[in-house]
Amino acid sequence: MMKTMKRLEQLYEGKAKIIYATEDPNLVIQYFKDDASAFNGIKKGTIVDKGVINNHVSNVIFKYLEDNGVRTHLVEELNDRETVVKHLEIIPVEVVLRNVVAGSLAKRMGLKEGTEMKAPILEFYYKDDDLGDPMINEYHIKEFGLATAEEIEFLREQGFKVNELLFEFFKQRNIRLVDFKIEFGRHKGEILLGDEISPDGCRFWHWETGEKMDKDRFRFNLGQVEEKYQEVYQLICGPA
Ligand code: TMP
Repeated sequence: MMKTMKRLEQLYEGKAKIIYATEDPNLVIQYFKDDASAFNGIKKGTIVDKGVINNHVSNVIFKYLEDNGVRTHLVEELNDRETVVKHLEIIPVEVVLRNVVAGSLAKRMGLKEGTEMKAPILEFYYKDDDLGDPMINEYHIKEFGLATAEEIEFLREQGFKVNELLFEFFKQRNIRLVDFKIEFGRHKGEILLGDEISPDGCRFWHWETGEKMDKDRFRFNLGQVEEKYQEVYQLICGPA
């Protein structure tokens, strides 16, 4: 029944996805594009079939998280690029989890990328493109009304739980989960995990070779962008 769910008007277009309304106001369709952007939109490009890969990869991960007690927006995959999800009121706070030093943390702390850490780090960023998603803490979140103290506590708890589950999930698939970003939203009095979990918003290093298999290949022109996204797809979703 669901597989025939019709797409109605476009509600929102982001850098990598389009959100469409459906006949049910509680449900929307996430359409995954091949468009890639980095450095807050300064670098733009296309990663061929990224939308298909991210849609499938994200759905496998969300299903695994659901099976392990994390409530998510996932309803049903419609086709290669479209998935029905619960309509969320997105909380404008990006939750970043880190297991290994990389990216902006390496820069901020003056540390070498790949530096091991004793325990995971959780960070909050204000989801605002015009401001370049600045880092914030719980005082900013409370003061400026982005989320309540209770919600912040839930985001933190869920963030660490998702990290623990995913670190093991990826390890079993020969991938080192270096860091990632997740987003949450409100739906009928509940907070659900939303957006996507894919090579666009995670750092994945091959467990043995250390090779980067994520959007850093696009960001820093490392080449083999499509190949590495495909490799992640194979490791997560099995042979095509
Ligand atoms: P960072 O090292 O640039 O702060 O990013 C940490 C991780 O979170 C990395 O896997 C990319 C992801 N991320 C996003 O996808 N979007 C964002 O807006 C931010 C701040 C991080």
